Amino acid sequence: MAEPVPREVARDAHAKLNVFLRVLRRRRDGYHELESLVLPVSLADRITVRPATRIHVDVRGEPEMASAVPAGGLNLSLVAALALADGCDAARGAEITIEKRIPVAAGLGGGSADAAATLRVLNELWGCGLDAAELADVGGRVGSDVPALLAGGPVLIGGRGHRVRPAEVAQLWWVLLPLGFGIRSPDAYRWWDEDRAPTGPDPAAALASAAAGDADALGGLLSNDLEAPVVARHPQIAEAKSALLAAGALGAVMSGSGSSVAGLARDREHGEKLADAIEGSMVVVGPP
Ligand code: C5P
Repeated sequence: MAEPVPREVARDAHAKLNVFLRVLRRRRDGYHELESLVLPVSLADRITVRPATRIHVDVRGEPEMASAVPAGGLNLSLVAALALADGCDAARGAEITIEKRIPVAAGLGGGSADAAATLRVLNELWGCGLDAAELADVGGRVGSDVPALLAGGPVLIGGRGHRVRPAEVAQLWWVLLPLGFGIRSPDAYRWWDEDRAPTGPDPAAALASAAAGDADALGGLLSNDLEAPVVARHPQIAEAKSALLAAGALGAVMSGSGSSVAGLARDREHGEKLADAIEGSMVVVGPP
C-alpha cells in the first residue's frame, strides 16, 4: 500500500552567520572564490508546505519584513521549488508559507535558508528521492549560500560556496544587530574588486577556537574580507561594531555581505546583557 501523503510539513529555516569569510580571488565567471566558516544559528523562519495543485509561495510576518521579501519570480523558495520540480517526475503543486523572522538582505542567509528548507521538504513531500549531493546540486543552482544551509550544521565552504564540508563548532552565544538596510551581495563583491581589498588571515586559529568553544580567543579572530569595502560605503556598520565592542562583546564582525553585525558573547547570560544594552539586537545560539 502507498504511504499516505502528509497533509502538511513544517520546518525551521535557520539563519547563518559567517565566523570568518575570506575572499580569495575573483573568478573568470564573475563569482569569487571563498573560504568561510558558516554557522547556523537559532534565529529561523518557519516554512510550512501543503500539497496543492500549483506551486505558490506566501510570505507572512511583520509587515516591513514580509513586504521586503520578493513574493514573485525572485523569491528563492519559489526558485528552489521550480528547480526541484524540473528534475523530479513525481513533482506536484505545493502551497509554501514562509513565516519571516530573519531580516532580509542582511547577510544572515534568510532567503537561502528558506530555499534550503523548501528543497528538503519538497524532496520528501513529492518523493523525489534525491540524495544529499543531488539536493546540494539543485541548491547550488538556486544560490551560492544554499548548499551550505542544506547541510544543517556548521560547515566550511569553498569554491563559490558549493564545496561544503562539515566543521566542528562548539555552541556559542552571539548578539545579532540587524541594521535596517540591506546590501546586495553583487555590490559587496564588486566593492571588494574595486578596492582591491586583501584576503584575511589563515583561518587555522579561528577554526581551532571555534571547535574548542574558546569564545575569548575566537573573539579576536572573527574576520570578513567584505567588511572593509562595505563599511567604506556604509559607515553605520563600523558604528554598530564599535557599539557592540564598547558594550563588552568579545569580538564583532559583519556577517556575509552585510549589513548585520554579529557580536560574540562569553555565554548566554553575557549575550542577554549585551542585547539589553544594544537596542534592536537579539541573542542567538549557534549551532541551534
Ligand atoms: O549565488 P548568488 O545568486 O547568491 O550570488 C549573488 C551574487 O553575489 C553573484 O551574482 C555574485 O555577484 C556575488 N557572488 C560572488 N561570489 C560568490 C557568491 C556570490 O561574487 N562566491
